[in-house]
Amino acid sequence: MNLFDVYPINPITITSAQGSTVWDAQGNEYLDLYGGHAVISIGHTHPHYVKRLTDQLNRIGFYSNSVEIPLQQQLADLLGRVSGKDNYQLFLCNSGAEANENALKLASFHNGRKKIVAFKGAFHGRTSLAVAATDNPKIIAPVNRTDNVIFLPHNDVAALEQVFSEQGGDICAVIIEGIQGVGGIQVASDAFLRRIRELTTQYGAVFVADSVQCGYGRTGRFYSHDHAGVHADIYSMAKGMGNGFPIGAIAISPAIKPSYGMLGTTFGGNHLACAAALAVLEVMDKEDLMGNAAAIGAYLTDELRKFDRIREVRGRGLMIGIDLPEELAVVRKDLLAKNRIFTGEAKPNVIRLLPALSITKNHADRFLEALEERLKDV
Ligand SMILES: Cc1ncc(COP(=O)(O)O)c(C=O)c1O
Repeated sequence: MNLFDVYPINPITITSAQGSTVWDAQGNEYLDLYGGHAVISIGHTHPHYVKRLTDQLNRIGFYSNSVEIPLQQQLADLLGRVSGKDNYQLFLCNSGAEANENALKLASFHNGRKKIVAFKGAFHGRTSLAVAATDNPKIIAPVNRTDNVIFLPHNDVAALEQVFSEQGGDICAVIIEGIQGVGGIQVASDAFLRRIRELTTQYGAVFVADSVQCGYGRTGRFYSHDHAGVHADIYSMAKGMGNGFPIGAIAISPAIKPSYGMLGTTFGGNHLACAAALAVLEVMDKEDLMGNAAAIGAYLTDELRKFDRIREVRGRGLMIGIDLPEELAVVRKDLLAKNRIFTGEAKPNVIRLLPALSITKNHADRFLEALEERLKDV
């Protein structure tokens, strides 16, 4: 049986990892500034994480949501505290797409409406409604196409106001990443997020803050939308939540009421997933990883802005986009081939840094030196 060939892959087999270092099958060492796509939040194989998961697995790994799982409430308590939203409600699922799917579905159950406002450049996942709200026709199958999603230009207050003045009573939800990841590290402006909050409140629509990539402390605040001083109605999250263990969730404002059967999942909230998510939050809290993300992120951004061949440096904290001119498109590949540094990419020529929140100044300096070398090459 062959694998279904959907991923363009690097011919590298990673066999072990620690913190922000990974090793391949030949024993070569790499600096990981990609975190397996923003997933590794507290660092690979963190000892507390490994122990908590191992201990949990030795007791019980899984049981379904038909019984009490006290770890879920422990997770809700800790997440509420660390994120500063302890009056929200937690629904656990398994991935980012599933989190957004549930968020939009819940919004529609809540206000009975159908129209979703999303933005140019957005990526929300590959399930039916999440992909319909994603600005990439290539990944929207004919069966997922719908007139219910309205795409507006990103950060365009006038376009947002116009759509609300024309169709406000039909708008179910506005979904927006605090920082677009796949879209190339495009930061939603504070003014834009505030206007979304005002208009959704005024018209009874639900504000969904997709925090799957930009959330979970990556920008130095728990949700990147926090920088604008707004409270969304629903936050979706996944990636960094389990440091590699598949888990997703939505945090739901107290104004939205649950009923039995409204949402559900077989795997979501299982013992092992909760143990992973608890370990992540415990480490984030104990090691002040949000503070570290803010500090190292600011250092990296300041230093990167000194390179005159870079077109633009965008982002916040440890979600950084290095926008390169066409002639430097080869730099990202060379960083991997010649300096053994993993980074992410966004089209057309953006290097995406999505490292663990625990990276050190030494890691940052190693990257800056390597980048300087590579820029000189071209
Ligand atoms: C902002 C955003 N939302 C949703 C998703 C989908 O998450 P998943 O791949 O876990 O379904 C992603 C994944 O890259 C993402 O970046």
